[in-house]
Amino acid sequence: ADPKKTPLYKVNQDTIEFTQYQLSTSSAASIKQYLYQRGVSDEIIKLFEIGYHPEGNALYKFLHAKKHSDENLIAAGVCAVGANGIHDIFSDRIMIPIHDAYGNPVGFTARTTKQGNEAKYINTAQTSIYEKGQLIFNYHRAKAALRERKRVFLTEGAMDVIAFAKVGIHSAIATLGTACTKEQIKAMKLLRSTIIVCYDGDRAGRQATYKFGKLALANQLPFEIVDNQLGLDPDEIIAAYGKEELLKMSEKTISWVEFLFTYLSQTYNLENYSQRKEFALELAEQIALLPNEFERQSAFVRLQEITGFDMRSSVESKSAPKRFMK
Ligand code: UTP
Ligand code: MN
Ligand code: MN
Ligand code: MN
Ligand code: MN
Repeated sequence: ADPKKTPLYKVNQDTIEFTQYQLSTSSAASIKQYLYQRGVSDEIIKLFEIGYHPEGNALYKFLHAKKHSDENLIAAGVCAVGANGIHDIFSDRIMIPIHDAYGNPVGFTARTTKQGNEAKYINTAQTSIYEKGQLIFNYHRAKAALRERKRVFLTEGAMDVIAFAKVGIHSAIATLGTACTKEQIKAMKLLRSTIIVCYDGDRAGRQATYKFGKLALANQLPFEIVDNQLGLDPDEIIAAYGKEELLKMSEKTISWVEFLFTYLSQTYNLENYSQRKEFALELAEQIALLPNEFERQSAFVRLQEITGFDMRSSVESKSAPKRFMK
């Protein structure tokens, strides 16, 4: 381990303990209430080491008294220097710690409970231990939770990972936002599991699913997609329909091809000839990349039924991809 990183993990660990304590005090009663209202129990709070960062520079005072240097507080990303000197970054936010693959605390995703102009979430900025685009929220716990059913539920946010924990599924992860990188895909491959994509059911989530699928396929990561017809995210599904609904949905998955047909036919107007042609071209390009011959064959047949085009000739020069999905 890099010795320069150890003091930064310690800053984060002390921050976790400070904010956990703050959440337990009566001055954070309304924050506790907010969490309870969202169905986040004391047990879940403890499991995810959720805390509360009070208003002002209370964290700085605490960490300074614990003899952490100002440089380390800035390097860990919990404080920054402004016009009035050093100040806390996560003031008045719920703190959810983020760990690396080994369980070292490397940063936070921090939510406001206010409805105003400020960003709903602030995440730790890029630091030497918080590598944006490489980290995956809850990866270390998901890895430990994988048993006989090797299923990893991929979500957008920490609250969605927590939603799965509420129903007893501890193998959920989040990319914290929607853009998934190649490095994150590689880390997912190391879990030797099937990824079940559970991004938000809204337009942005479906678009992110499309991007994820293309990247996952190109990198031979096996995945399925949850059949989310509700337009909601996993946490909202529990809030609106209860835990049973999320459990039910976790078993209802569709293939990448199935997703492609549905998603792309919503993206193009199939009543229109040139749109139909565009649709056929985009879909054929994806079909050609499918790992199984029988999946490619039947998808081309289906595409021809919908559009009237036999698209096999448009892509047949490309070599068949390596097989990796059952
Ligand atoms: P969403 O916009 O779907 O979050 O963003 P949400 O579901 O409304 O949040 P909750 O449930 O009310 O708490 C999905 C994810 O994108 C990241 C967060 O990780 C979030 O969970 N995000 C979102 C940010 O990093 N910053 C933001 O301002 C918003
Ligand atoms: Mn910890
Ligand atoms: Mn969203
Ligand atoms: Mn969401
Ligand atoms: Mn949500």
